[in-house]
Amino acid sequence: MASLPETMKALVVESPGQPLTLKTVPTPSATPGSCIVKILVVQADDKTPHIIKGIPGYTFPPNFVPAAHAIGRVVATGPDATTLRAGQLVMLEGFIRARDDPNDVQILWGITAGLTPESVQFMADNWAMGCMAEYVRAPLENCYPLDEKRLCGSPADGGLGYALEDLLQLPTQLVAMGGLRAIDVKPGERVIVAPATGAFSGAAVQVAVAMGAEVVAMARNRVLLDKVQGMFPAGRVHVVPITGDVEADTAALKQWGPVDAYIDLSPPAASESTHIRSCFPALKKYGRACLMSIISHDVAVPYTLLTWNSLTIKGQFMYERDDARLLIKMAETGVLKLGKEGGNEVVGRFKLEEVEEAFAVATKNPEVGKLVVIEP
Ligand SMILES: NC(=O)c1ccc[n+]([C@@H]2O[C@H](COP(=O)([O-])OP(=O)(O)OC[C@H]3O[C@@H](n4cnc5c(N)ncnc54)[C@H](OP(=O)(O)O)[C@@H]3O)[C@@H](O)[C@H]2O)c1
Repeated sequence: MASLPETMKALVVESPGQPLTLKTVPTPSATPGSCIVKILVVQADDKTPHIIKGIPGYTFPPNFVPAAHAIGRVVATGPDATTLRAGQLVMLEGFIRARDDPNDVQILWGITAGLTPESVQFMADNWAMGCMAEYVRAPLENCYPLDEKRLCGSPADGGLGYALEDLLQLPTQLVAMGGLRAIDVKPGERVIVAPATGAFSGAAVQVAVAMGAEVVAMARNRVLLDKVQGMFPAGRVHVVPITGDVEADTAALKQWGPVDAYIDLSPPAASESTHIRSCFPALKKYGRACLMSIISHDVAVPYTLLTWNSLTIKGQFMYERDDARLLIKMAETGVLKLGKEGGNEVVGRFKLEEVEEAFAVATKNPEVGKLVVIEP
């Protein structure tokens, strides 16, 4: 195993409200349960500048390094790694669960420690440093091997010809995968995705199509909806603009036939949107709904309709490890299209030194498939 440099560059925030500063810090070393990954590409997310400033409900420890959506190469492993080896290309994702209390101590690495004293302590003691750095110490569980030859090899050699940055859409799609699998979406089913044009909700359209579903995509902005529809072969995605007329929108959602499932990834701003009231009545008898939003107040549901139609509502936070493995297999087989073929576009490439420019471009491009990439 090649020896690592003693120090590395990392973007560090000392505490909420302080600037994100490029610092030279000690390169981490591999400990039991972890490995060291050289970051090749990491996503600059439009929400990170707000998190760094301090958003109620989001906490992070001192000397925090943001971001967890990254593609990297393993350079060192802890003694208990059994399959990960130096040289392996991996996808990194940020849902870390404490090994001895996985249901109650959970953090979003590079985003927030959550609100319980246990999760705040867990992040501070172990995972304060995320992926906006040259190297990261990552939990073994959050590193997923990628078949580099298949994904990035040339088509002449049986590869899919993706650039590393194309693989950065996978961690966002993984959130959608968690929701779609939580309600057991199957090939051939008709699924409402609402809204459908944000980074995560648009990813739900991409993953649902790859799973073999027919998607009814709903949002307010018709131009963006048409763009989403244009990413896919004819007939795979229908669009319904939100008009605010609940009954008319329900009828529009049902115009292609019975709807089996509905996944909701609304932003907090959409909590008063009429789309939620339109989507439940659009579901067929025994239909399933997955609610994935982080909305600060309660949203009414049509109680009697749920009863009459034997509907199932499932809440879903993040995903399971099997969801990640299956998503990667879908990309490797080619059913889940990445890169331009999947409707994605890299709209900026930056170095760690240029992070503010990277955030500025990300803020102007918050919608589905737009990636801003930092190459440390
Ligand atoms: N459960 C989980 O594990 C998990 C993980 C990640 C994210 N999330 C949730 O996913 C949400 C969505 O994230 P995102 O990145 O996809 O999108 P986003 O950028 O937060 O929101 C953009 C989407 O919401 C729609 N929208 C915005 N304001 C609206 C309003 N007032 N009424 C109706 N629609 C509105 C937009 O379409 P139009 O403007 O065209 O309507 C667009 O489709 C997050 O806010 C978070 O709550 C959940």
